[in-house]
Amino acid sequence: MERLTLGNSDIEVTRFCLGTWNMGGGRGWGPEDADAAVGIIQHALDQGCNFIDTARVYGRGKSEQTVGRALAGRRDQAIIATKMMQCKPEEVSGNIDASLECLRTEYVDLYICHWPSPSLPLEPFFEEMIRHKDAGKIRAIGVSNFNRQQMQVALNYGVVSLQPPLSILWRIPEDLLTFCRESNVAVTPYSPLAQGLLTGRYTRQKTEKLGGPRDSNRLFSEEIFAHSLEVATHVDRIADRLGCTSAQVALAWLLQTPGVTSVIVGASSISQFDQNIGALDVELSEEDYKLLDEAGRAVWDRLGPEATMWEWKPT
Ligand SMILES: NC(=O)c1ccc[n+]([C@@H]2O[C@H](COP(=O)([O-])OP(=O)(O)OC[C@H]3O[C@@H](n4cnc5c(N)ncnc54)[C@H](OP(=O)(O)O)[C@@H]3O)[C@@H](O)[C@H]2O)c1
Repeated sequence: MERLTLGNSDIEVTRFCLGTWNMGGGRGWGPEDADAAVGIIQHALDQGCNFIDTARVYGRGKSEQTVGRALAGRRDQAIIATKMMQCKPEEVSGNIDASLECLRTEYVDLYICHWPSPSLPLEPFFEEMIRHKDAGKIRAIGVSNFNRQQMQVALNYGVVSLQPPLSILWRIPEDLLTFCRESNVAVTPYSPLAQGLLTGRYTRQKTEKLGGPRDSNRLFSEEIFAHSLEVATHVDRIADRLGCTSAQVALAWLLQTPGVTSVIVGASSISQFDQNIGALDVELSEEDYKLLDEAGRAVWDRLGPEATMWEWKPT
């Protein structure tokens, strides 16, 4: 599987990253149980995917524990990304140590600030992260859900990646993407399938609820859902014409977006994972790329620039 350097770091990651939010258990989605989740992670490694994303909050440590179990004896085959919410500097150490314990490892490759806190300054947080990097517990520092202004601060602390919500349906401002490209900050999109909306599972005839965090996802909300479906229909049509699946078209679109290093994709089964990595072999024409770009942007424009995917952000 093709690998790229993660921004200004010495870390090589595959263009496909396995996300493990749905492996935290208990939210009405994801693999059947922890054993099935371990099987998916190990299968991903067997297929040459080296990048695994988790977070402290996913199942309150359960997802990290599952990743730790799956990587036992195979630590050297994986690049682990985990995340903590921005917290007071004195709380950073406890979070990192808890991650290391759950993940059964002595170091985290990429430790990400999950969400910035509006009530805390960023500088002391990053200073503390750097202290742990110097101590060898972290190889590189990343951020998630940061805006352009916050990125400027993060860059002063050598941050190597941004994990934003990004898909055909959910966008980030163009100047943020440009800033990352010009600063050599790797962009690693999350929820690239719009949590299943862009996989052909939904059509006008087939709108059964999928459950989990999708219940509060704006793209599934009453006022937006019909517009999301229109875009999904474009994706399905292109997939039919190219002889691939809708999920593969949605992921290929992101992989062809300049500045995107690796897409973070969730999978609830080995067959979903196998289907999704097939995107690496799909190439969209300029015309198809543009059609999806414009159709998706029109939905995002309806949401407004301050929208968050689950109508949540730290206060
Ligand atoms: N930094 C952040 O704030 C943040 C936020 C969200 C996510 N993330 C990261 O990004 C990862 C991916 O995001 P996500 O899970 O929200 O969204 P996603 O990758 O867009 O969607 C994953 C879900 O889509 C369905 N799916 C996947 N492949 C499929 C296929 N081939 N056919 C049909 N359905 C398919 C599965 O749903 P079912 O379980 O229903 O089968 C799966 O759980 C997370 O695991 C997490 O690591 C980060």
